[in-house]
Amino acid sequence: PSPAAAPERRPFSRLSGEDLDYFRTILPGRTITDPDLVESSNVDWLKSVRGSSEVVLRPQTTEEVSQILRYCNKGNLAVNPQGGNTGLVGGSVPVYDEIILSTSLMNNILSFDNISGVLTCQAGCVLENLSQFLEEQDHIMPLDLGAKGSCQIGGNVATNAGGLRLLRYGSLHGTVLGLEVVLAGGQVLDCLATLRKDNTGYDLKQLFIGSEGTLGVITAVSILCPRKPKSVNVVFLGCETFEQLLRAFQLCRGMLGEILSAFEFLDSECMRLLKTHLKLTNPISDCPFYILIETSGSDPSHDEQKLHNFLEEAMTSLLVSDGTVATEESKIKALWSMRERVTEALTHDGFNYKYDISLPVEQIYHLVTDMRQHLGNRAKSVVGYGHVGDGNIHLNVTSAARDPALLAAIEPFVYEWTARHHGSISAEHGLGLKKRNYIHYSKSSQAVALMGHIKTMLDPKGILNPYKTLPDHLR
Ligand code: FAD
Ligand code: MLT
Ligand code: ZN
Repeated sequence: PSPAAAPERRPFSRLSGEDLDYFRTILPGRTITDPDLVESSNVDWLKSVRGSSEVVLRPQTTEEVSQILRYCNKGNLAVNPQGGNTGLVGGSVPVYDEIILSTSLMNNILSFDNISGVLTCQAGCVLENLSQFLEEQDHIMPLDLGAKGSCQIGGNVATNAGGLRLLRYGSLHGTVLGLEVVLAGGQVLDCLATLRKDNTGYDLKQLFIGSEGTLGVITAVSILCPRKPKSVNVVFLGCETFEQLLRAFQLCRGMLGEILSAFEFLDSECMRLLKTHLKLTNPISDCPFYILIETSGSDPSHDEQKLHNFLEEAMTSLLVSDGTVATEESKIKALWSMRERVTEALTHDGFNYKYDISLPVEQIYHLVTDMRQHLGNRAKSVVGYGHVGDGNIHLNVTSAARDPALLAAIEPFVYEWTARHHGSISAEHGLGLKKRNYIHYSKSSQAVALMGHIKTMLDPKGILNPYKTLPDHLR
């Protein structure tokens, strides 16, 4: 079968009336079987994959998660952990009838230490709510992404989400200080440390960061949060070529240095979709490429002076052809939405084939131009945007409706291209269901085999998020 084809259902037990009775005893009123309510948890955000689960369980405590998993493991029932269901690789919804374990009601903040900046909270806290809480404490979350209004910190950790601040604050592998995880058999693994430094043996929490619900259910997270910057500026610039954009990035790293907090880009095709589908207005004149630069620092006049010097140099050396600056919050938000809302604009353009590729930064846009040439007029739109500062491009292709012939033209072309250029086929979204069988384009067979051993050790019956992340042959 084609690597993208649906896997066969594995011989897990089917949900019985007796199972439901048990769940209703431990989760009274929180065992959801109303088909209208279950439906939204069966379909992913992109509306590209659909499961047929009959139940959503909504635990509130770690102990309840433990009881659920102990029962499911014993009865050989498969479980799909689910946070905000904003994942983009088909990992967050069941493939068949897996029980959906939603963390949505696990939304308590457990502690915040104003001196160290360490926040500890349950896994189901929505990212934006955490940001709002921290704002009052003069801190921010070390990550930010367009899905902030729905995605949950547990889901962010499970996918090792990158997002818009990674350039400045690094990945969750650095900022997450501790995790509490319930293992497949129901054992609670307490690694919920709040220390910056701790070299006592293997750093087990790292295994669960980016494991996409296949190794355990994350129930609580400790995360290091930076102070809220006193001064934030955003500039939106236009470039004639991608080479100029890269030179602007180089200049920016040199001239803005420690205050640079984001360097994002979108191409003119993205701008066309923002205008057509979301009625957003281009804040500058039309250009082939747009850059969004954010600075965050502690001294407004110092930051503005640096930014001014950078802009002057970028304009006089003709790296950028037009631009606008924002220091006031509402304009900053408006400029950020030109970048953040591309994902949403794409959903209005038709069926969306989404790729999330890491590459040496000089190469990132060649992927888009080569794909355009390769697909000719078979696609509706082929667009590129992403996190230039992280060497991460989002290549997206749309068609009027789901189109298997178009998919066959994109894959494995895109993965072969990426492997040839020493990139990664998933920079920040994970592998989920859609990309599980392409892992070998980015990982050696020894590494994949070891992942299989780890999975078998932690989840011998394979009940946790089956069919996801690991290739079918490992099962
Ligand atoms: P879900 O979608 O519910 O789940 C994602 C995966 O994690 C699934 O495999 C699920 O089984 C697992 N999971 C969820 N919760 C747990 C848990 N508690 N324990 C164990 N496993 C769990 N990603 C980026 O990296 N950068 C971006 O900039 C970015 N922007 C986005 C913008 C939009 C508009 C959208 C829709 C998505 C974006 N994403 C981005 C995708 C990103 O993966 C998710 O938004 C987010 O990290 C997932 O969180 P969630 O709570 O929605 O998890
Ligand atoms: C982004 O950077 O906008 C997100 O990763 C979502 C996407 O890829 O569309
Ligand atoms: Zn992204």
